[in-house]
Amino acid sequence: MKQDMIAIIDLGSEENSAIAREIRAYGVYSEVYPHDISKKELQAMPNLRGIILNGDKNVTDIDVNDDIYEVGVPFTAYEFPKAKCEQGKVEDLKSFVLDVCKAETNWNMTNFVHDQVELMRKQIGDKRVLLALSGGVDSSVVAALLIKAVGDKLTCVHVNHGLLRKGEPEQVVSVFGKQLGADLVYVDATDRFLDKLAGVTDPEQKRKIIGAEFIRVFEEEARKLDGIDFLAQGTIYPDIVESGTKAGKAVKAHHNVGGLPDDLKFELVEPLKYLFKDEVRACGKELGLPDNMVYRQPFPGPGLGVRCTGAITRDRLEAVRESDAILREEFDKAGLRGKVWQYFTLIPDVKSVGVRDNARSVEWPVVIRAVNTVDAMTATIEPIPYELLAKITDRILNEVKGVNRVLYDITPKPTGTIEWE
Ligand code: XMP
Repeated sequence: MKQDMIAIIDLGSEENSAIAREIRAYGVYSEVYPHDISKKELQAMPNLRGIILNGDKNVTDIDVNDDIYEVGVPFTAYEFPKAKCEQGKVEDLKSFVLDVCKAETNWNMTNFVHDQVELMRKQIGDKRVLLALSGGVDSSVVAALLIKAVGDKLTCVHVNHGLLRKGEPEQVVSVFGKQLGADLVYVDATDRFLDKLAGVTDPEQKRKIIGAEFIRVFEEEARKLDGIDFLAQGTIYPDIVESGTKAGKAVKAHHNVGGLPDDLKFELVEPLKYLFKDEVRACGKELGLPDNMVYRQPFPGPGLGVRCTGAITRDRLEAVRESDAILREEFDKAGLRGKVWQYFTLIPDVKSVGVRDNARSVEWPVVIRAVNTVDAMTATIEPIPYELLAKITDRILNEVKGVNRVLYDITPKPTGTIEWE
């Protein structure tokens, strides 16, 4: 990393990553380190320009190694309890970083991509690297970075578990396989997943089956490939900080594709592990990935599987997929993409009586959900304009097979969760 850096030493505060984010917003790179980091480790950081010790009034038993004060860069002790709202504190922080430490504001995605490409070329050399490419933001950006760095040494495996949104597997194949020319193994494992899930009604059991089957399919594909030494993962900074530095635990890698058997040993490549989510998106933009990939809304790992509540059936899954595509299309047309945090449809496992073509019809209801949130812990409802709701309803009733009602879920979180299961 060639960029100037401010180290934040974690003395038990919840706000460390907020400070790192704030400093990065000034254009200066910043990272959080555990309290027991040594003077030697700090001195080994070539572009370290300053150190912030950040604690919490309520945590008094965590201290740093005495000799770190001899590192030779400016120090400050900072208390950031909710300082985000205290303008004075934010100004203090800015002036420490820019005036006291004189850090250069050269943290940007062009430099990041340049540095990562160099680092990955060095790390991978002439060996081969494997990536589980889900098509989500993180794995897509990792793929684009690897293609740029060591394109001919990369193999991507895209496992289609049959629970993806309409057009997603096709987009992965078209962007990575065709446009970017990656070596892409596309595995349509729909039948395998749906057979395993047949009749399973418990949501946690469904999640477990999908997770375990994903590892199994990926493992089978990995075994077919020869001479792979590295496994690339889309681990991002919040994964590391949250499982990481607090209360003196060392920063450790967080394994997305955990659960691979011991004899499949890979060294990890995690180029996004120092980026926040918005930086991952900026990196994707920098690499030229399409907007609908870079700004894609959150989508659960078990996919449409948790939006087809109770036992998943192929026809209901298809109806969820089609209605979700209509909802997304209409939100796009109404200019709501990127403005609403998450929106989707789901179909509960219940039928109701209706009337179609002058005859009694017993069909499913589609539920529309559209929420806004900051951290997904609580959520509010997006007030969808009535005309738009009516248009979406009309399209779903006319275009989606097996559906005779459309409902709009206006429950905030709490009491409802965002997903229904
Ligand atoms: P809930 O339903 O708990 O959802 O309010 C909060 C956020 O998490 C997503 N979600 C999941 N993501 N695996 C995931 O990767 C899951 O099993 C899962 N369940 C929920 C959900 O879409 C929302 O963004």
